[in-house]
Amino acid sequence: MKLVGLVGWRGMVGSVLMQRMQEEGDFAHIEPVFFTTSNPGGDAPKMAKNETKLKSATDITELSKCEIIISCQGGDYTTEVFPQLRAAGWNGYWIDAASTLRMTDDAVIVLDPVNLHVIKDALGKGVKNYIGGNCTVSCMLMGLGGLFQHNLVDWMTSMTYQAASGGGAQHMRELLTQFGTINAAVKPLLDNPASAILEIDRGVLATQHGMSADETKQFGVPLAGNLIPWIDKDLGNGQSKEEWKGGAETNKILGRGDGFAAAPIPVDGLCVRIGAMRCHSQALTIKLTKDVPMDEIEDIIASNNQWVKYVPNTREASMHDLTPAAVTGSLTIPVGRVRKLSMGPEYISAFTVGDQLLWGAAEPLRRMLRILLD
Ligand code: HSE
Repeated sequence: MKLVGLVGWRGMVGSVLMQRMQEEGDFAHIEPVFFTTSNPGGDAPKMAKNETKLKSATDITELSKCEIIISCQGGDYTTEVFPQLRAAGWNGYWIDAASTLRMTDDAVIVLDPVNLHVIKDALGKGVKNYIGGNCTVSCMLMGLGGLFQHNLVDWMTSMTYQAASGGGAQHMRELLTQFGTINAAVKPLLDNPASAILEIDRGVLATQHGMSADETKQFGVPLAGNLIPWIDKDLGNGQSKEEWKGGAETNKILGRGDGFAAAPIPVDGLCVRIGAMRCHSQALTIKLTKDVPMDEIEDIIASNNQWVKYVPNTREASMHDLTPAAVTGSLTIPVGRVRKLSMGPEYISAFTVGDQLLWGAAEPLRRMLRILLD
């Protein structure tokens, strides 16, 4: 059995990965080695077989014994350890959730239901680095992959509604704390049916404006009852790094653009943080390469993979099936609100939702592991 090193398995993405690996029986096919940055020598979790003690995640000799390493430890860890491992001559497979290596020439962004052909091609060429994509991009492609596969996308805009979890566990806690603070501030008024709504509203606003630096440490401003129309770094050209990833990573996953024969497809839009917990949603405007009848569009989207679920464009279905609360904790990727726009027969809208910890982070990694084990 292959020795598989697991790093960062205790964090939020790592915990979801461990859960999914257990659910899918992945541990039956590997000899896991659990690494830690904080507790070398401690007891490994119950999935351990022969390697029952935790090893140091910076011990290059121990890491080098693994044929495959999966890291959910984050970008700083990858930046520090990965080059040392390769410099030490390690030739194993590196599977990583962090973005550090995503756009390097010797790495493939993995999302096998969409780009198994790109992965297989890279394996054939001896590529050793397989990196999970940006969560928003992966969830979008799981939903709309069919349109790309049929060469139907001329261009696409993606206007996102991204959950707190994209920032990390502390961000989720901060959001909930803020909701609580706001509720507490106006609760006496809320409990009184005769109170004036505008007075409640003033109380909410005063609470938001009065939040301390400590209460907004993660997001910088209140997110509860608010939104933040900027995610990740400012690239200095008006675009956020998250928005840049939308175009760059989508094309790399599809095997288009830099380093590939196929021309890139323009994908761009605005990325917005909202007060959802762990599902990223996106409103898409798509210019098709040709006028395609709606029933064909539905077939193409719905039949692309077993996780996509086409939601009829009705009020009821959209309200119940196309929301973060409906999707959280599930691998289902609903796609709905699909209709022809008034700009012309080649323009369609769509709305999609995905659990950013599952398809957006953990699931493509464990599936890549299984591809390597097959
Ligand atoms: N960058 C994403 C976000 C996280 O902030 O929502 C995962 O790629």
